[in-house]
Amino acid sequence: MNTIIDVFASASSISDEDVRNKIVVVIDVLRSSSTIITALINGAKEVIPVEDMSAAGKIAQNLDSSRYLLCGEKDGITIDGYHLGNSPFEYDEDVVKGKTLILTTTNGTKAITKAQFAKKVIIAGFNNADAVVEELKKHNGEIAIICAGWKTRISLEDQLCAGYIIRKLMQGVLPDNARDGARMAFVISEKYENQITEIVHLSNHAMRLIELGFEEDIAYCSQLNSTTVIPVLKEGTLINDNGSEKSNTVR
Ligand code: MLT
Repeated sequence: MNTIIDVFASASSISDEDVRNKIVVVIDVLRSSSTIITALINGAKEVIPVEDMSAAGKIAQNLDSSRYLLCGEKDGITIDGYHLGNSPFEYDEDVVKGKTLILTTTNGTKAITKAQFAKKVIIAGFNNADAVVEELKKHNGEIAIICAGWKTRISLEDQLCAGYIIRKLMQGVLPDNARDGARMAFVISEKYENQITEIVHLSNHAMRLIELGFEEDIAYCSQLNSTTVIPVLKEGTLINDNGSEKSNTVR
């Protein structure tokens, strides 16, 4: 595959030109990507990613209150008055099935909203990494992987996941035209290819989540290829682009 591929280290640095007409893959391993994937596995009708609480409130105003759930976190903590936080374990089938989820998170949903001028936006994590690779093989054109990071900073777990996807997509050989960001993620993934769970546990955000009492989320979000669900952005809403929900789950 001879496609140009780049990796952005955090959502904060993304401009419209970085994504325009590209295939964009947004990665927030801990935890937005994993939570969105889980919500769609468990039958949520759709997930509407929004930048902040004010945007979430505006969307909620126009919906019947029995149809939606307000979801998300700020600095890892569930937002006061919201139905759900950002732990995938909160998104059980009996809670989310058939619902519209309005989701705002510290970095992940900001990264998604910044990709609005892309040709296609796909949400990836370790849970659906191989399925995302198969999807990317169907497309020509430039790929931009946006790692959500943490505020303005790089996140090890997102880089590791980006590198995994690039290595699989390129069958282990990075083309000469790869951007520096892609090369760095590739190298990180090569170094740690057999230690994904351990390395995710060592990341700064994992430490934050452990302090907040979310340790079990880390192992869950590190699970490689537990599903083939692929959340894709269609008119501002994330839906599963890869067949029916439960039948895609292999965990
Ligand atoms: C984010 O968007 O920064 C994360 O998903 C935070 C979290 O772990 O809830």
